[in-house]
Amino acid sequence: MTFPSTPSRPILVCTAWPYVNGSLHVGHLAGVYVPADVFARYQRLRGNDVLMVSGSDAHGTPVTLRAEQEGTTPREVAERFHQEFLGYWQALGVRYDLYTSTMTDNHRDVSQAEFRLLLRNGALFRERSVGFYDPVAQRFLPDTYIEGECPHCHYPRARGNQCENCGKLLEPDDLIGPRSRLSPDAVLEKRQTEHYYIDLPQYEERLLGWVRQQRHWRPNVLRFTENFISGGLQPRAVTRDLLWGVPLPDEIQHQPGWESKRIYVWIEAVTGYLSASIEWAKARGEPDAWQRWWQNAEARQYYFIGKDNIPFHTVIWPAILLARGDTILPYDVPANEYMNVGGQKASKSAGVGTTVPQLLDAYDPDAIRFYLISNAPEGADTSFSHEDFIRRNNDELVAAWGNLVHRTLTFLQRGFGGDVAVHTTDPEVAAAIASAAEKIEAALDGVHPREALREAMALARFGNEWFDRRAPWRLVKEDRAASEAVMGTLVDLLNALKLLLAPFLPHTSARLHALLGWEDSIEERGWVIEAVPGGRRLPAPSPLFRKLDPLPADEP
Ligand code: MF3
Ligand code: ZN
Repeated sequence: MTFPSTPSRPILVCTAWPYVNGSLHVGHLAGVYVPADVFARYQRLRGNDVLMVSGSDAHGTPVTLRAEQEGTTPREVAERFHQEFLGYWQALGVRYDLYTSTMTDNHRDVSQAEFRLLLRNGALFRERSVGFYDPVAQRFLPDTYIEGECPHCHYPRARGNQCENCGKLLEPDDLIGPRSRLSPDAVLEKRQTEHYYIDLPQYEERLLGWVRQQRHWRPNVLRFTENFISGGLQPRAVTRDLLWGVPLPDEIQHQPGWESKRIYVWIEAVTGYLSASIEWAKARGEPDAWQRWWQNAEARQYYFIGKDNIPFHTVIWPAILLARGDTILPYDVPANEYMNVGGQKASKSAGVGTTVPQLLDAYDPDAIRFYLISNAPEGADTSFSHEDFIRRNNDELVAAWGNLVHRTLTFLQRGFGGDVAVHTTDPEVAAAIASAAEKIEAALDGVHPREALREAMALARFGNEWFDRRAPWRLVKEDRAASEAVMGTLVDLLNALKLLLAPFLPHTSARLHALLGWEDSIEERGWVIEAVPGGRRLPAPSPLFRKLDPLPADEP
């Protein structure tokens, strides 16, 4: 049983560049990093030409704020958390082709070159404006250092660039009652400054035309973006009065006043997708190889982000790319809602928090990946709790999939010395596998990992039910050959599920692959559902999953 091989397509998998101002938490993993990795692993197994890139966003004001609080430098903060994040990807099996940072020389060069190109193509203009100056801190305040009430939804702690409550982009001047986050008592002054702006209105019509063709986008992303653009685009400042970041290109940087300005995140961070692709290509010794994912109409780019980053990726980045005029545009922007952490009681009684290092201390990586996808905030917010984690781990992952693996492999050892008989896969099971595989493929191709995982788990439950029905432990007493054939089919089912689950549970699928007697890797065999050949003797199994102890009941 094999799938027809599809021609290999270049697929760029991008994940939002996280600020390196503190540990990431469960919401980041659920919304962005785990779904992206599941998608990338699936596409690689399918034989597509996947490039998965991202990096640490070192230059945001969140990093400078943290450095100021700690009395250290932004670089020190950024490097510390960058190392920490690299450890997460390693531990969780989030397999980037390159996870870099915005601190590289390559990123600076690519960002400056882009700035020049946008200037040459008439996308940027320079204008005087009035900026907020903090007389206590004696400096112009970046937008995110300014806080105040949102004019749209009246959220009291909106930032000068965006309201995190309603998602609307803001200018500091829009805020009601703006305050400095550096010096809460400072009376802000307005002083003359000068900045470059990206002329978004110029691209409004083309963007809207393009967005309206994206019927495959998630409905919330499409709706938000259409409203955002048809509400009318404003020019956006793309430089800031800041010292930590990428300086303007040389010819601008040396003009009076411009040495103390930096390219702003709207241009600089999103350009990381391109600069990381270029860095990857250079490191491989094929400096033009990035073009396969950027200048090729056959390529598809997917951007995995949280909902707060939607306008960034569906409006501003596409506008920059249109203005550059030398690349393709994003294919899909599968933004997720949030996984919220409520119920602090639960986390206290477990003694476990919800940052990534805390999760990694408490749970196995595949258990984390399983929970985050099975409870992924795809269409609506979800909430995390340790109780729910433990329940899903025990009642779903262990009870359905872990159990099917365990009972099949142990009975095969006990009853048949681990020998897989020559057999053909039972037609009922073969049909169930084929039908599940088809649904899983459709769900993953459409970037719905949660639904794909649900289908895979349904197949595992079907397997347990079929096991019970055929009762090979009873059958063996009357008809050894029939029992052997049942076991052969069950081994084939494990082999299929191992593959279908490999994007989600890469560590345990790799171990099961070895337990099923394969000598190469799952990746080498690719997305092929096949029977385990008769005559193979499987090694003694070891458990793949751990049942977790329920949390101690709360003290009254
Ligand atoms: N670090 C920023 C944030 O978390 C930007 C991430 S999106 C990217 O909001 F496009 F810049 F990568
Ligand atoms: Zn708001």
